[in-house]
Amino acid sequence: MLIILLFLLLLTCHPRHVTTNNHLQPQDTMDPSELQTLYSIMETLSLDQKWRLNYPNPCKPSASWVGIECKRGVTDSHLHVTRLDFVFHQNQNNTFCVKEQNWKSWTFFPAAILTISQTRISGRIPPEISQLSSLVHLDLSYNQLTGAIPVELCKLRNLVGLDLSYNSLTGPVPNAIGQLGMLQKLDFSSNLLTGSVPNSVEKLTSLVFMALSNNGFHGKPPVGLANLKGLEYLIMDNNPMSTELPTEFGHLPKLQELRLADSGYSGEIPAIFSQLSNLTTLSLQNNRLTGNIPLGLGNLSHIYHLNLSKNWLSGEIPFDSGFLKRLGKNLDLSGNGQLCLNPLQAYDSVKLGVDVCNRSNARVGNSSSRIQPLKKSEGRVVEFSRPALFFVFLGLGCVGI
Ligand SMILES: *[C@@H]1O[C@H](CO)[C@@H](O)[C@H](O)[C@H]1NC(C)=O
Ligand SMILES: *[C@@H]1O[C@H](CO)[C@@H](O)[C@H](O)[C@H]1NC(C)=O
Ligand SMILES: *[C@@H]1O[C@H](CO)[C@@H](O)[C@H](O)[C@H]1NC(C)=O
Ligand SMILES: *[C@@H]1O[C@H](CO)[C@@H](O)[C@H](O)[C@H]1NC(C)=O
Ligand SMILES: *[C@@H]1O[C@H](CO)[C@@H](O)[C@H](O)[C@H]1NC(C)=O
Ligand SMILES: *[C@@H]1O[C@H](CO)[C@@H](O)[C@H](O)[C@H]1NC(C)=O
Repeated sequence: MLIILLFLLLLTCHPRHVTTNNHLQPQDTMDPSELQTLYSIMETLSLDQKWRLNYPNPCKPSASWVGIECKRGVTDSHLHVTRLDFVFHQNQNNTFCVKEQNWKSWTFFPAAILTISQTRISGRIPPEISQLSSLVHLDLSYNQLTGAIPVELCKLRNLVGLDLSYNSLTGPVPNAIGQLGMLQKLDFSSNLLTGSVPNSVEKLTSLVFMALSNNGFHGKPPVGLANLKGLEYLIMDNNPMSTELPTEFGHLPKLQELRLADSGYSGEIPAIFSQLSNLTTLSLQNNRLTGNIPLGLGNLSHIYHLNLSKNWLSGEIPFDSGFLKRLGKNLDLSGNGQLCLNPLQAYDSVKLGVDVCNRSNARVGNSSSRIQPLKKSEGRVVEFSRPALFFVFLGLGCVGI
């Protein structure tokens, strides 16, 4: 969101020439051939077939369609399309359906921002995408794209935002992804991607947001992830990683959200996670984590959502009553049979869904001195329900798809 706002800001900062008379100056018009290409794209894509009539000068500031932004050329005085948005807006009538075969004609535009989201575009991402070399932000999310992520995409060196989420893309992420050194936001979540996370992501040192959740990624994430010092959001739930939790994640000082749930992680929670002082959300639920909860987790002063449920964690919970109160129902430790609460905080045990420890003053150092729960608690954690993040694909009545 921040990045999108930045873009909007950048675009609106560009001085606009607003015409006040009906006589169009050359600098108010588009290059005639570019205009014809734009018309032909719109006529094939738009449900509004009267594009030529309704928008004789689509770039004219006062008359342009909401999905278009234009800028004055540097070498000529014409207006050029710098942004094209094809998004399904429920309350607006500028709904488009996009055909795959029309991609090539788009290479004509030096657009910086291209959004084709929640349309029903299908097929592969064409290699010709590399010709859109001015792209700074590419959003193809919530479509029906299939096939692999083309390596040509990695030639778009100016990309700051790349969102391919909620499609059906398959295969591995090309190692060439490391060429996108400007990238701040990368979202590949909810696809069918496989393989391991390529080592080259360590070169994406501008990254602030990376989402790879709901895919088929597996294996140890690259050690070089620790280089991404600006990373604030690492969203990787629901992948068959089946490895130990990477200690590298503990070296990302700016991390605010770390989501690694449902991913077959085993071993202990690395103590170094306690050094993620800006962490607000830690989701490790539904893995195969063992051992104690690291003592320092209770020191994370910004955390407000901690889910460690459905693991094999054991021993005494290292949180004081202040911590337990602060997180309230956003703390979930249920489904860890061997976890127990210090009797001094026994009052809270029902809410937490854990039992009370049968020794008050010891902490588990190893398995031979394991603290056992006193009794089975009937308590259940109050479930924290959030509105489902589902976008319903409404029938758009697309012509020609
Ligand atoms: C959208 O189009 C329909 C039918 O063409 C029309 O009835 C409706 O008023 C339009 N809505 C807006 C917001 O323009
Ligand atoms: C934590 O966040 C604050 C506010 O966003 C920021 O000023 C600070 O630098 C961050 N801490 C680290 C270690 O990055
Ligand atoms: C937690 O914070 C307290 C007070 O700052 C400190 O004494 C203690 O060593 C910290 N514990 C860990 C495990 O970092
Ligand atoms: C924790 O995760 C479990 C399993 O996914 C889920 O059912 C529960 O609602 C979550 N709890 C919280 C507090 O987010
Ligand atoms: C495990 O705990 C037992 C009993 O407290 C102790 O004697 C033993 O040294 C511990 N082993 C290790 C490896 O810490
Ligand atoms: C306390 O835990 C030990 C195992 O560490 C177990 O043998 C004992 O029965 C437990 N006591 C109670 C009262 O549950």
